[in-house]
Amino acid sequence: MSARIDVVSIFPDYLAPLELSLVGKARQRGIVDIAVHDLRDWTTDRHRTVDDTPFGGGAGMVMRPDVWGDALDEVLQAGPDGGAAPGGRVLLVPTPAGQPFTQRTAEELAGVLADGGQVAIACGRYEGIDSRITEHYAARHDVQVREVSIGDYVLNGGEVAALVVIEAVVRLLPGVLGNAASVIEESHGTDGLLEHPSYTQPPTWRDLEVPEILRSGDHGRIARWRRERAVERTAQVRPDLLATHPVTVRAARRGDAEVLAELAAATFRLACPPDMSEEDMAAYVQEHLTLERFRGYLKDGRRWLLVAEVVGAVVGYTMSIMGEPTDPEIAAAVPTRPTAELSKFYVRAALHRSGAASALMEATLAMARERGLPGIWLGVNGQNERARRFYGKHGFERVGGRTFTVGSRRESDDVMYRTL
Ligand code: ADE
Repeated sequence: MSARIDVVSIFPDYLAPLELSLVGKARQRGIVDIAVHDLRDWTTDRHRTVDDTPFGGGAGMVMRPDVWGDALDEVLQAGPDGGAAPGGRVLLVPTPAGQPFTQRTAEELAGVLADGGQVAIACGRYEGIDSRITEHYAARHDVQVREVSIGDYVLNGGEVAALVVIEAVVRLLPGVLGNAASVIEESHGTDGLLEHPSYTQPPTWRDLEVPEILRSGDHGRIARWRRERAVERTAQVRPDLLATHPVTVRAARRGDAEVLAELAAATFRLACPPDMSEEDMAAYVQEHLTLERFRGYLKDGRRWLLVAEVVGAVVGYTMSIMGEPTDPEIAAAVPTRPTAELSKFYVRAALHRSGAASALMEATLAMARERGLPGIWLGVNGQNERARRFYGKHGFERVGGRTFTVGSRRESDDVMYRTL
């Protein structure tokens, strides 16, 4: 059973690219039957007129409903299975005033076609088609009318939008793409993320290296890296797409040591003063944030580590440590006992506005309460205004200061405390 697409336009030649590439091949192989019609074939006057001035005045011309009606009545009788269209009929009208055309729309239309349905596309020009056309066909029980926009900009007509819709839909039809997984992995696939970055030969090009992990042959690590980059890119470029995915927080497990060490190395600089040298940061990471260190932290009963995940990628972590502060300055400043230090609190920069940090903080405080602590403290760099504001918003107050060493530098922290 072949899928059937009809396009009606005053510029049928505009749709010539449908002969090419993947769509052209799908037509040759009989997977989809695409018919392009010239709207002027349904005109009755000598000048083959398709438009007229708008009632009520205004610039531009409006396309006449009588010509369109005759064309669409005829076209909507066509279809697979001798015109029966068992999958139903969709009249698709591209217009900047339509609903956004998305991958979900493409999937729905591919579903109609795969069931032996028909998609008829009416390409308007000028100021659009007389509105009675959509009113009339929407009232027909056997036709579903969909007005769609391919983006918030204005084209000269619906032909380019029709090409976009057809290409997005036809590649989803069974048998068109060789590899079904490529449909799922690509941007706007099933989990609604943008695609991870991709690389091929050569391994070094103009001093730019392919990330080492992709050449490791370790499929588990590669899959994890790709998911992390997809989540990160989506958060940076299209945070609106992430808004529908919940942030989840869970206790870190022994098996998370590698993820945590990588995340810690990537995020440590976020808490450093802006003038700290690369060498000093690297030295700190080498000393405190290695895989071995995290293996040790995860085994230590005095510590609790939590991770925040978005679509299965770890995007942030916290580590708290039970016990009396060893630094006398801090011991004097922290007012209650027993106590714990919120020692590490990091979220990937791209996800700072995703809700991950607040979810991590709430879970961290809940764990501290479960342990019966009256209060918890933390040290935050005096220059890290963003972090101090965040902790302030979550009920921490400055109770003192402390100085410590990172590499070759003396740093000064604020000590902040929160009653639980
Ligand atoms: N016709 C003109 N502009 C359009 C757009 N942005 N989307 C769909 N059809 C259109």
